[in-house]
Formats: sequence, structure tokens, C-alpha cells
Amino acid sequence: MEKLVIRGGVPLSGRVRVSGAKNAVLPIIAATLLTQDTCRLEGVPRLTDVKNIVDLISHMGAETGWEEETLTVTAHRLHKLEAPYECVSRMRASFLIMGPLLARFGQARVCLPGGCNIGTRPIDLHLKGFSCLGAQITRDSGYIEARVKNGLKGTRIYLDFPSVGATENIMMAAVLADGLTRIENAAEEPEIVDLANFLNAMGGRVSGAGTKVVSIEGVSALKGANHVVIPDRVEAGTYMVAAAITGGDIYIDNVITEHLKPVIAKLEETGAKILNGGQGLRVIGPERIEPVNVMTLPYPGFPTDMQAQITSLLTRANGTSIITETVFENRFMHAEELARMGADICVDGRTAIVKGVPGLCGAKVQATDLRGGAALIIAGLAATGETEIRFVHHIDRGYESIERKLSSLGADIKRI
Ligand code: EPZ
Repeated sequence: MEKLVIRGGVPLSGRVRVSGAKNAVLPIIAATLLTQDTCRLEGVPRLTDVKNIVDLISHMGAETGWEEETLTVTAHRLHKLEAPYECVSRMRASFLIMGPLLARFGQARVCLPGGCNIGTRPIDLHLKGFSCLGAQITRDSGYIEARVKNGLKGTRIYLDFPSVGATENIMMAAVLADGLTRIENAAEEPEIVDLANFLNAMGGRVSGAGTKVVSIEGVSALKGANHVVIPDRVEAGTYMVAAAITGGDIYIDNVITEHLKPVIAKLEETGAKILNGGQGLRVIGPERIEPVNVMTLPYPGFPTDMQAQITSLLTRANGTSIITETVFENRFMHAEELARMGADICVDGRTAIVKGVPGLCGAKVQATDLRGGAALIIAGLAATGETEIRFVHHIDRGYESIERKLSSLGADIKRI
């Protein structure tokens, strides 16, 4: 079982480059199933989640190949139209293949994605979209099956919650449907826009991505396309917080500042200085971290995927901060682990009260989930002494060689 060992107290400095966005590339890899032609995706991060979805589509018959950070996929003939338990239980984003399979083949069988430790993670909105498009949905022995006889029909779908995955799955189902589909109360995340750009490069007709109403004019077929994946705003935000908590001064390459507006605004409130340098950002940590209140919201609000990381920062603030998690019901598991490092956090349902403490001390801790693990790294970078983080596999799902990148910024961090 691999661990990360960090000796804290080093202010980070230097340059680090952000990889392609995990949450953009996962739906885009699913979308390659919509065509029998070859797709070339550049800037694809080597993450466990990416490996999992590439293994899944290969298992179904797609040909895949890597050169550096470029992934090619040719889903010419698929001999399996199902995602088995082993794949989906490892990564719920496997569920994103349902829309493409339904669109191209008229059928899909996907194992019900379990919940995960940040919440129940239902898929009711995905299924509502598919049935509005005309699919018959059945469940048997833990699998969801969707079938449609004479093709999906464009329609209007209202999402009770602006679900990222549901918006993406429905977009991919509708892109080959007969007629116009309007998704209302759609998610507006940048990853939705990146998927829409890829679908349009394939010959799709998607408009309104990044707003609350996404319209998809169905087409008869899609061709292969090349695409460069957008940078990962959550990875960038994670390094920004690491610079802030260590009082460092770093330059982050490969960011789209627009995507980081809520994170930049909140970090500036804590006293960090953030200078926009075109393709990058310079982040200077504050002398004194000011307490702030944070409420996570769907984009363009403060991202839930940055909540754990900023919680770590605020454990060192000069006062009390209130953090409200409105997106997932159980996303404070890192609080217990941070408390073992001396943090003072009181969690009550979807709210955490964080009382700043003069310092954190290194301890043996365990990553509870992907971003919770990142939060522990951030705390370890600022703690006195040594922090040992177990269950690093959670972190490897979403961060490409995080210890190499942090070491290049001067951190004393090793994987053992
Ligand atoms: C995506 O998950 C991301 N994952 C998550 O990132 C991210 O936290 C989340 O969006 C919110 O931004 C990927 O893109 C692969 P949702 P997703 O559907 O699509 C409820 C990370 O750390 N909901 O927007 O699963 C749900 O319960 C991961 O990189 C329904 O009620 O998120 C949750 O409360 C973690 N019914 C809320 O919506 C549904 O059918 C947000 O979920 C679907 C969702």
C-alpha cells in the first residue's frame, strides 16, 4: 500500500504545469463511442480514472493507443454494449457511456453505479433524460438497461438539479437523436463546454453549452475529430491553495483564468495575491491567512471539488470560517483527518465551522476520497514535522504525479 510522506514548513516556489482536466476528458472519451472513425485527444492526463475508462471502452471493443499525452480511440466495431460491475464500481463516471451507446446503437446496459463516500450519487436525472428521449429503461440484478427501437427523438428536458453528469449524458444521447433537444436548468461547468466543442468538432450541432439551456440539433452521424482537452481547474486550484498555506510564491502554467474566477476571488479574500499572466497565474501566499466563509455551488459558484482544499487552508486562518457544502451531502470526511493534525473543525450536516489554529502538526492520516486526500497533502505541506498519508490511490484518481509536481516546487514529499 503506497503512502506519501511529507515534511512540512517549506514555502513553495517555482513553476508547475497543470495537466488536462479529468472531468472534461472522461465524458469526451465516452463521446468517442459515438463514431466509428478515429478520434485524437491531446493533453490527456495519466490518471487512474482515465485508465479505467480506457480499459472499459477497450473491453467493449474500441481500439485505443497512447503517444505521450495523446490518446487515440477508434470505436469502429463494439462487441459489447455494456459496462460491467468491475468497471462501474471502480469509477462511477463509467456511467457516462450510456448516452453514447444509446445514441449510436439504440441500447446500453450499465451496472448501477454505487454511491461513493461523498454521497449517494443518484442517476435519476440521467434516466429521466433518456426516457424523455424515448428510451425504455429497465433494471435487473443491479444493472440498468436502456433500449430504443426506432431511434431517440429530440425533446425538452428540465433538470431538477443542474447535474454535470446528467447534462453530459443527455447531450451525448441527443446528438444523434431525430430533432431538437433542449436541456433546461443544465449544468454550466467549463467541462460541459469542452464536451460540446468536441461533439461539434465531430459534426454535432450543440449550442448554449455553458449556459442554463443547452440545445442539441440531432444529426444522422458523427465523424472522428481531434481535440485538445482544457486544463484542469481543480488541479490548478489545488496548487494555488498549497502556495497560499505555505506562504509560497509560485507560477502555474496552463490555466484558463476564467474557469478559476470563484477560486481566485475566495483566495484573494484570504489575503493571497494572484497575478494573471496570460497562460498562467502567479500565486503569492499571504503573511496572515484571513478567515472567509465559503459556500459551494454549481458553476459559476465556488466549486465543491475545491471545498476540501480550502478547508485545509482555513484551518490556519486568523479567525473562524464557515463552510457550507450545498452540492454533496457527505463531503467533510477530511475534517476528522485534519483534526488529527490539530485542526479545529466542527461539522454539522452540510456546514463546517473552522476555527483557525496557530499551527498544524504532522501525523499519520488517510485519504478518504480524491479531494479529501488533496486536502491532507495541503495540510501536510504546512504542518510541522512529518505527515504520512495512506490510501494514496484516491489521490491518484485525479492528480497526475502530484509528488513530482510538488517536489519541483520545493516541497519535501516522497511516495513510499
Ligand atoms: C461531476 O460529478 C464531477 N465528476 C465531480 O467531480 C463533481 O464534484 C461534480 O460533477 C459536481 O461538480 C466528473 O465530472 C467525472 P452531479 P457528477 O451530477 O456528474 C445530484 C471530483 O472530485 N444528482 O453534478 O456525479 C447528486 O446527488 C469529482 O473530480 C441527482 O440528484 O455530479 C449531487 O448531489 C467528485 N441526480 C449533485 O446532483 C442525478 O441524476 C451533483 O451531482 C445526478 C446528480
